[in-house]
Amino acid sequence: EFFLIFTLDGLLQVADWSVTFENPNPCAVKGSSVEFRCSYNYPDREIARKIAWYKGQFIDGDWKRIALSDIPSYQNRSEYLGDLQHNCSLEIQDLQDDDAGYYYFRFDTDKYGRRSKESCLNITISVVNPKRVRAGDTVTLECGASCPLSTTVWFKDGHPVSKPNFTAQAEDAGNYFCAVEGQESVQSDPVTLDVQYSPLNVSVEVSHAGLLTVGSSVNLTCSSAANPAADSYTWYRSTGSSSVLQVGSGQVLCLPSVDLSHSGLYICQSRNRLGENNSTQVLLTVTETDSEYEGKLKCT
Ligand SMILES: *[C@@H]1O[C@H](CO)[C@@H](O)[C@H](O)[C@H]1NC(C)=O
Ligand SMILES: *[C@@H]1O[C@H](CO)[C@@H](O)[C@H](O)[C@H]1NC(C)=O
Ligand SMILES: *[C@@H]1O[C@H](CO)[C@@H](O)[C@H](O)[C@H]1NC(C)=O
Ligand SMILES: *[C@@H]1O[C@H](CO)[C@@H](O)[C@H](O)[C@H]1NC(C)=O
Ligand SMILES: *[C@@H]1O[C@H](CO)[C@@H](O)[C@H](O)[C@H]1NC(C)=O
Ligand SMILES: *[C@@H]1O[C@H](CO)[C@@H](O)[C@H](O)[C@H]1NC(C)=O
Ligand SMILES: *[C@@H]1O[C@H](CO)[C@@H](O)[C@H](O)[C@H]1NC(C)=O
Ligand SMILES: *[C@@H]1O[C@H](CO)[C@@H](O)[C@H](O)[C@H]1NC(C)=O
Repeated sequence: EFFLIFTLDGLLQVADWSVTFENPNPCAVKGSSVEFRCSYNYPDREIARKIAWYKGQFIDGDWKRIALSDIPSYQNRSEYLGDLQHNCSLEIQDLQDDDAGYYYFRFDTDKYGRRSKESCLNITISVVNPKRVRAGDTVTLECGASCPLSTTVWFKDGHPVSKPNFTAQAEDAGNYFCAVEGQESVQSDPVTLDVQYSPLNVSVEVSHAGLLTVGSSVNLTCSSAANPAADSYTWYRSTGSSSVLQVGSGQVLCLPSVDLSHSGLYICQSRNRLGENNSTQVLLTVTETDSEYEGKLKCT
């Protein structure tokens, strides 16, 4: 009978001893601060004497709990917000990637000591792999953390991204960041994705709309989307059946005084170091006129 009473007393005592984390797995962003909100309990008749926070560290092939007070990198950045009664909150500032991991609180009363379960701190960082791609390459977005994150979500230039893996297109270039679902205010730093591609959307603008009369002046201007920007332009003219002539280079094809032979279909070819692409054909028609008009405009 004596033994039974002793056991019950022991069980009650264990139930009275506890450490509770408000959020056992906080997630924070690199550079920000995190507060481990924590409370601890022990029987009223005891008195807390000693408290400490520990971090799990892998040393010589083994996980060890090291007191934060013994880790130099925490000395400036961690602050015990709790007390020697029931509050064991801890703040860590200026979070770095390697702050992610497992944390423990331990307290000792005049009779016993007790350690908390682990609290896993996840640090989110945006990982865009690789950061510079060519159109057609595969891009993987990851939310980096040393303990696995629950569901993460991605944003590109502020808009949600539907898939974390995709084949890069020109329009995928932008700034990406990740967040933990349900904690969207915890946003990691943005990472810039640079997508390189050969010229697209090559177009020709004609300075002088409509029919051209002999002697008038006209400029054709080529534009294109390309990354890196197009660095060379070649102009072609095709007349009739098969012959294609190279008629110029440079972004603007300047025809200061056209004659009938300038009629034809013009194409601009835009090029960067990744490749080339052609505009659609643009038709120029030069007609004779009996007016006295003469093109006075000159190209420089
Ligand atoms: C603590 O902060 C001071 C001033 O900011 C700095 O000079 C010192 O190196 C820091 N110590 C550690 C251990 O990080
Ligand atoms: C513990 O103390 C911190 C800092 O003073 C406070 O923000 C927090 O609310 C307290 N927690 C509890 C459970 O009382
Ligand atoms: C942090 O990592 C732990 C341990 O893997 C995981 O259980 C928890 O869900 C993560 N927290 C968040 C907010 O994702
Ligand atoms: C995304 O790509 C990574 C690495 O290539 C791969 O491990 C993962 O399974 C892919 N995820 C999806 C959803 O395709
Ligand atoms: C090319 O043109 C299409 C249609 O106008 C447009 O949606 C796309 O964004 C353009 N591409 C680039 C890289 O500018
Ligand atoms: C040329 O540009 C068009 C759109 O302007 C694009 O669909 C096509 O893939 C491009 N071709 C090459 C070889 O880049
Ligand atoms: C063509 O471009 C030149 C400069 O490159 C300019 O001086 C001239 O006025 C332009 N002509 C027309 C018809 O726009
Ligand atoms: C662009 O046009 C030139 C001249 O006709 C031709 O040689 C070249 O193959 C064309 N390039 C593309 C990508 O269609």
